[in-house]
Amino acid sequence: MDLEGRTVVLIGGSSGIGLATASAAAAAGARVLIAGRDRERLDAAAASIPGVVGVVADVLDDDALIRLFETAGTVDHLVQLASNPKGGRLLDTDDEHLRPVLEVRVWGAIRAVRHAAPRLAPDGSITLVSGVVSQRPTPGTAMVAASAGAVEAMTRALAVELAPIRVNAVCPGAVETPMLERALGDRYDDVIAAIGKKLPVGRVGTGADIADAILFLATNGYVTGEILHVDGGDRLV
Ligand SMILES: NC(=O)c1ccc[n+]([C@@H]2O[C@H](COP(=O)([O-])OP(=O)(O)OC[C@H]3O[C@@H](n4cnc5c(N)ncnc54)[C@H](OP(=O)(O)O)[C@@H]3O)[C@@H](O)[C@H]2O)c1
Repeated sequence: MDLEGRTVVLIGGSSGIGLATASAAAAAGARVLIAGRDRERLDAAAASIPGVVGVVADVLDDDALIRLFETAGTVDHLVQLASNPKGGRLLDTDDEHLRPVLEVRVWGAIRAVRHAAPRLAPDGSITLVSGVVSQRPTPGTAMVAASAGAVEAMTRALAVELAPIRVNAVCPGAVETPMLERALGDRYDDVIAAIGKKLPVGRVGTGADIADAILFLATNGYVTGEILHVDGGDRLV
């Protein structure tokens, strides 16, 4: 993986999969910038990896994204991970709760791409993040699944539109991150154990599993328009 001296920008890089990707990219020699909304979390994340720079930015805030990409300068690889995956059954959940689900992942990706693309090197890449819920929904996930499916469709369209810049998406299954901890609360240990038992690989994913896939997509110059499933075989069982 050739990331020596390359600049990687991770929106949603202060926690979970993004933080694991920042760590792996920095270890591979990249200059890494991470963005997130919460300054304290961002500072702690940046401080945990030598050389990583944190820039406070909400992916829906154009001014903040301008600041982020001005700080970055030339960008080689953009990874957009921010999402709001708070689901709810359509018949019981109001628009105010559901709209941000679509807004952050889909409009967030559109905004991030708009700001990054003019700065991306021709051999650069964009990696978006969807989720296995697009293929394996459960009750209450209609809007989260719609947002993930939209990102997957947009990935293929942007790969054509922005060529030669490569555009891919990683589609994770369950991954042990703070997001999953928040979503599962007290049930975390039991649910993680049950998912691990069900999956062909016998365990739930780690941030490092997904980071590895993201950096593969970022650095393999012959892959574009790809949705890379990293889900321990979740779609098969
Ligand atoms: N964990 C899983 O099982 C799983 C499965 C499938 C897909 N995914 C997807 O993978 C991605 C990363 O998830 P994760 O589990 O690593 O979550 P996480 O640990 O909660 O990290 C989410 C990151 O996104 C940032 N973020 C959230 N909203 C943002 C916004 N509006 N603008 C900028 N940054 C924002 C967070 O920082 P702030 O809150 O400080 O902004 C944080 O850095 C998400 O898109 C998620 O939907 C995760």
